[in-house]
Amino acid sequence: MTQLPGLLDAEALRKDFPILERSLHDGKKLVYLDNAATSQTPRQVIDAVSEYYEQHNANVHRGVHVLAEEATALYEGARDKVAAFINAPSRDEVIFTKNASESLNLVANMLGWADEPYRVDHETEIVITEMEHHSNIVPWQLLSQRTGAKLKWFGLTDDGRLDLSNIDEVITEKTKIVSFVLVSNILGTVNPVEAIVRRAQEVGALVLIDASQAAPHMPLDVQALQADFVAFTGHKMCGPTGIGVLWGRQELLEDLPPFLGGGEMIETVSMHSSTYAPAPHKFEAGTPPIAQAVGLGAAVDYLTAIGMDKIEQHEHAITEYAVKRLLEVPDLRIIGPSTAEDRGAAISFTLGDIHPHDVGQVLDEQGIAVRVGHHCARPVCLRYGIPATTRASFYLYSTPGEIDALVDGLEHVRNFFG
Ligand code: ALA
Repeated sequence: MTQLPGLLDAEALRKDFPILERSLHDGKKLVYLDNAATSQTPRQVIDAVSEYYEQHNANVHRGVHVLAEEATALYEGARDKVAAFINAPSRDEVIFTKNASESLNLVANMLGWADEPYRVDHETEIVITEMEHHSNIVPWQLLSQRTGAKLKWFGLTDDGRLDLSNIDEVITEKTKIVSFVLVSNILGTVNPVEAIVRRAQEVGALVLIDASQAAPHMPLDVQALQADFVAFTGHKMCGPTGIGVLWGRQELLEDLPPFLGGGEMIETVSMHSSTYAPAPHKFEAGTPPIAQAVGLGAAVDYLTAIGMDKIEQHEHAITEYAVKRLLEVPDLRIIGPSTAEDRGAAISFTLGDIHPHDVGQVLDEQGIAVRVGHHCARPVCLRYGIPATTRASFYLYSTPGEIDALVDGLEHVRNFFG
């Protein structure tokens, strides 16, 4: 078995994930390499969600009965866990949403309805990058269409990094918000946060970081990032689907208007007007995803017990090995950085002129799960002149043996298509 420095005992950790025991297609062992789309769920998280439904299920912040109080304590306890996980200065800065897309849309809508000095209007500019997930493009296009604000973006270098050579022209005195991804879901690139934040701060623009592919894989410290907002999702970090997070600086959350109205986000309501509860409740209209938040809290406990720095080291070792092995496959072209430096654990590639959907299909027949397509980041495919890629993405339970299986699988694909 291949041994690499920095690896976790993935074989032991895999026992926590019942789904990894599955075999497919007449006994082929599942090789799950689609972790950037969604991670698998450990028994500890499944149990926490089951126990919530079996013992504590009730609505939160509403009842005086025992179950309501237990459910509220569990839900708010999950907020405490997430706040500690990202080193938030205050638990009230952690807003639960349904996913990262909702978190990003929430900021776009807050700014669209905000008063000065935050208001986005026809005299202002919004800055994103060409490597964003559609979730961090479309909300800004909608805001731009609604307000007349100009949408600008950073382009990409040939090796899959942000081209910041024109940073002073892209981020200007007119910029209200700079929103960018910390780790690209398609290219794997880890972006230089500090340079972008420094320029944004120079011109007084707000910064929103999409940390969906970062929070599961590396220590995340919102204070060190110096951003104003950070968005991520639970289901990519061993948590359930249906739960996302928006962290925002407290003074901003106090000043900015809510997006969704409804129960629990108000202070008082009359037939003429309403006043709002303080953050985070102002941004959590209606019954929240309670069981999902409890599951996310359990996922945070699980990851913290392993250690985010150890997870990062493990993935770095796996990614370095994967880059090396993939580059041995004839006709394989990595789309994105072709070294393990400053890159996350998602690697996109093309294989000669074999369509990625065919690659994915033949890999699936061997029990290997990858994602194919444009990965909700179509502008990246347009930039590199390709219709789609095959993407393999790793996590704390990925092993060198799975990388070897992928490489063998790709040889099989090449033989199959002659
Ligand atoms: N954003 C997820 C991905 O990259 C769904 O696959």
